[in-house]
Amino acid sequence: YWTVDKQVDNKESSAQIKEAAMWITKGEVVAFPTETVYGLGANALDEQAVRKIFEAKGRPSDNPLIVHIADQSQLTDLVTEVPELAKKLIEHFWPGPLTLIFKKKAAVAKSVTAGLDTVAVRMPDHPVASRLLKACAVPVAAPSANLSGKPSPTSAEHVLHDLNGRIVGVVDGGQTGVGLESTVLDCSKQVPVLYRPGGVTKEEIEAVIGEVKVDPALRTPDEAPMSPGMKYTHYAPSGALFLVREREQIRQLVKQAKAEGKRVGVLTTEENATSYEADVIVTCGRRENLSSVANALYDGLRLFDREGAEIIYAESFPCSGLGIAIMNRLEKAAGGKIV
Ligand code: TXA
Ligand code: MG
Repeated sequence: YWTVDKQVDNKESSAQIKEAAMWITKGEVVAFPTETVYGLGANALDEQAVRKIFEAKGRPSDNPLIVHIADQSQLTDLVTEVPELAKKLIEHFWPGPLTLIFKKKAAVAKSVTAGLDTVAVRMPDHPVASRLLKACAVPVAAPSANLSGKPSPTSAEHVLHDLNGRIVGVVDGGQTGVGLESTVLDCSKQVPVLYRPGGVTKEEIEAVIGEVKVDPALRTPDEAPMSPGMKYTHYAPSGALFLVREREQIRQLVKQAKAEGKRVGVLTTEENATSYEADVIVTCGRRENLSSVANALYDGLRLFDREGAEIIYAESFPCSGLGIAIMNRLEKAAGGKIV
């Protein structure tokens, strides 16, 4: 367990980072903070090391990982070409919460890409992540540092809750900022395709490179997603979560569930927090500021488990801007239970 204040760059913090980096170069897995969520990192060029990530998380082996780099020059070792559109995106959004998919080179460990001929790469915008990646001097494959199926970790406590004893350690850099995972965009296609909505919105991407396609599965849940990881249920609390379109309905549903003797939770926002008579009220930021909702969402979902909620009703959010990513995660947490 290494603690590194992201504001502080001194001898002591450098020593902590150096030690964590040493474990990664030795072929072990270490969790670390990024601006989106905590990642579980291993040397992306070391097949044995990468396998340990899948073991620790209980992750299905057909679900590829994102490779993290500290410097653009590292791209040349990983990908065969960087298309013009991708260069523009890199210039605008790196470092930042945008993952780009390219045709891969052979040096990338096979299990990183789950056998695909493409590789996902991103450059995190977090001082501790950058310092760690520089100290490793190898590209670092890292999924979110949660047990498969659970909400992604936004604090070192979340990581330890899920993975204590299964990994050599975690670099504690405090709470993450964005709170949702990066946007995933496939740039290996003629027209880029959005696979996962995230910290960088579709509108922001299109302002830089013009229109992009969207994986039809993001709109029609019955369709098979183009990105392997998007087919799995995710972010799910232990209680049954229902995503409710109309807020007024939640009061009614809460009453019914209480009458049935269930311990009821509601996921709401500061604006509406006093409108429900549920057993567990989890307030995730302010509706008028969707960044604050994204930032608080995963901790909120984990809170329902700590409070033993058996049935959970979640408010809906507008389907534009960051609201698209928030709704995507809630739809997955609900596993299709939409009222
Ligand atoms: O913000 C993030 O992206 C965090 C932090 C740690 O960087 N990482 C993260 O990783 O969310 P993970 O493994 O939870 O999600 C990676 C997603 C999955 O949906 C996976 O299917 C997709 O990226 N992916 C990775 N490589 C791919 C590829 N070659 N083709 C299509 N999808 C890919
Ligand atoms: Mg994940």
